[in-house]
Amino acid sequence: MAETSTIGSGVALVGCGSATPSQRISNDQLGQRVDTSDAWIRSRTGISARRVIGPDETLTGLSHQAAANALTMAGWESESVDLIILATSTPDDLFGSAPQLQAILGARGAVAFDLTAACSGFLFALVTAAQFLRTGAMRRALVIGADQLSRWVNWDDRRSCVLFGDGAGAVALEATSAAQNGLLGFQLKSDGSRGDCLNLPQVQNYLSLVAGNSHQQGGFQSIQMNGQEVYKFAVREVPAILQTLLKATNTAPESLDWLLLHQANQRILDAVGDRFAIPQAKVLSNLAEYGNTSAATIPLMLDEAVQDGRIKPGQLIASSGFGAGLSWGAALVRWQGPI
Ligand code: UT7
Repeated sequence: MAETSTIGSGVALVGCGSATPSQRISNDQLGQRVDTSDAWIRSRTGISARRVIGPDETLTGLSHQAAANALTMAGWESESVDLIILATSTPDDLFGSAPQLQAILGARGAVAFDLTAACSGFLFALVTAAQFLRTGAMRRALVIGADQLSRWVNWDDRRSCVLFGDGAGAVALEATSAAQNGLLGFQLKSDGSRGDCLNLPQVQNYLSLVAGNSHQQGGFQSIQMNGQEVYKFAVREVPAILQTLLKATNTAPESLDWLLLHQANQRILDAVGDRFAIPQAKVLSNLAEYGNTSAATIPLMLDEAVQDGRIKPGQLIASSGFGAGLSWGAALVRWQGPI
């Protein structure tokens, strides 16, 4: 196969990091607030606890910790970063939190913006960043997935509140030669016609502006979710998109070292693993401790498994994210680590 050494034709994942809030809420604690039980939550979801941002924490702060850890692992100076994409649906500032993150990091030369695609956000941002690097326009990108759904959960709705938690994860992505390319393929999908099974709509609050005219006062409701519909969507679409990705990249499921899925429900992880006959030991899971942290789940899990030595340089990872939009995606990645 012809090989090019042109910088800009490949991208490598050379660092990762993560951060979670200090408040840990167990299932039993939640049971003091809503009519639920540890046994129900664990058997239906696999979740035992979640982290919730407290008064002294912010999404930007968590994102900063995660990104700083990724920078350290990559061995980069913050000033060498060209691009920062913060995948989040729950910024501290509705105009975007990425520029604040850029300032705190001291990444003066980087352009920074938010990207919203709910639980698929990290994968969408990873693929977006890769396009800037592959064209040769930029060399170094930080991709952060972070969410604070705790702000938008109805903590009195037992059908949804037990699922979610807060967190942040980050990856450092570097333009490389084709030989070192670590993003081997991707598929991204959206279907807005099914968006109403998981959304976070604005409040309908119209106030008088001037005589005969009104304006809408901004504000959001809480997360609205049809759990069964989202579950069916996930167990149908995630295997389908992974199948397409594996076929397009000519990859046999047995050659995968890890399956790294959005951490929404252990039953979804098990169903997807079974579909490809991937042993449970290769299906990464940390949702017992963190619940569904939306855009953060994939980089949070990646960082944990890199830090504890499970994921090693050169290993092949199939990843898939899915959630509100509806949106979903998959990527075939080879973890590189520091070059
Ligand atoms: O990023 C994507 C985010 N969203 C998701 O991943 C959601 C995907 N969906 C799911 O994970 C599951 O549908 C849930 C975990 C949300 C619910 O599990 P389920 O097995 O689909 O339960 P269900 O909605 O069919 O409810 C079964 C029963 C109901 O009682 P009845 O009507 O049978 O008497 C619910 O009222 O369980 C009840 N229930 C609960 N009981 C105790 C629902 N939530 C709870 C709860 N504790 N927290």
